[in-house]
Amino acid sequence: MSELASTPEMLSSATESIMYVVTRPEQVMVRGKGSYLWDAEGNRYLDFIQGWAVNSLGHCPPVLVRAINKQMKELLNGSPALLNDQMIAAADLLVKNSCLDKIWFGNSGAEVNEGAIKLARKYGAEHLNGAYEIITANNSFHGRTLGLMSASGKEAWHKLFEPKVPGFVHVNFNSLNAVVDAVSDRTCAIMMEPIQGEGGVYVASQEFMSGLRRLCDEKGILLILDEVQTGAGRTGQLFGYQNYNVEPDIMTLGKGLGSGFPVAAFLAKDHVCVFEAGDQGGTFGGQPLAMTAAYTVIKHMLDKNIPDRARRRGNFLKKKLRKLAKETGLSNVRGTGLLVAVDLPHDQGAAVVANAFDKGLLINAPKPNALRFMPALTVSNAELDEMLSILKSALLSVS
Ligand SMILES: Cc1ncc(COP(=O)(O)O)c(C=O)c1O
Repeated sequence: MSELASTPEMLSSATESIMYVVTRPEQVMVRGKGSYLWDAEGNRYLDFIQGWAVNSLGHCPPVLVRAINKQMKELLNGSPALLNDQMIAAADLLVKNSCLDKIWFGNSGAEVNEGAIKLARKYGAEHLNGAYEIITANNSFHGRTLGLMSASGKEAWHKLFEPKVPGFVHVNFNSLNAVVDAVSDRTCAIMMEPIQGEGGVYVASQEFMSGLRRLCDEKGILLILDEVQTGAGRTGQLFGYQNYNVEPDIMTLGKGLGSGFPVAAFLAKDHVCVFEAGDQGGTFGGQPLAMTAAYTVIKHMLDKNIPDRARRRGNFLKKKLRKLAKETGLSNVRGTGLLVAVDLPHDQGAAVVANAFDKGLLINAPKPNALRFMPALTVSNAELDEMLSILKSALLSVS
């Protein structure tokens, strides 16, 4: 057990000093390994949230722990104004294994989505007569900065932190006609998630993605894919766009890229890279530990065929969920790779999540009537079966 969390007094005083932004269970997590987490009391949890689809290789993957340990002794932090060897290696690996030509590294999904939007607006200013509007989807989630809360199509945010940042037009996801109607001479880009993760796991159709690409080519505007949740192997390919054979002009990555180490990036085609010195930056972007993490995670994924493994495990999970659905009233099993969701018969999401937690399982309810599964991409069939058995018992307990 951690020294910090060794007495109940320490725990309660720590809780009091944390600003309230979400209701959390009182248990304090102290250790993780693979698909499991342990709290300060020694209770074990099967983790199908994994830091919100972040720990792509599970908790504390040895390959990453080793690499970070080694790098810590070489160079902990260089300078945003200097190159470092880890940055070059990570950039090279990601560019060579994607359809994009250049990369910028940041720390969070929100930071790189902001960067992608800035790049698209500058492209609009220089190549599209000052066009600045970006078309995004209803029910989308792109991050929590003021700009991205405006870009996102999350209903609960419509009236929050007014005034909104202008320049975003929202249309229905998977409706190509709606996007066509929304394009004007003010449009510089269309920004979409290949799968709406936070919105409840809604997968973009092939027709929609191909249509977006065609439309962008016809109009000379940019296609931005927010792959913060779908990138880094989650959907059974290294990047979600590879499921569609549709190439974005700009792609953003975060979450699983560092498998638990904070690192994010946006990549762009050469002709889109219009930034000049001073347009984009950040104190920690490209720092060596984060770069080691990104390099190690992506290299490991490629070497070990982790995306393919995620695809196979995802198919196994969906097959088993469909079987469970027949027994328990679940419906609409959906998702790609290991980003999977299912609908509940009623708004029981919070109750199922709480009951599963008491039984040692972490799952998420992205909507009151849906459950989402985002396990480590290294999850085993036995762990998937264990999850399904606890889930079944939780569903029966709350029905
Ligand atoms: C698709 C997508 N974009 C952006 C973000 C924001 O990422 P971060 O929380 O790292 O800022 C998220 C987070 O859930 C996401 O799912």
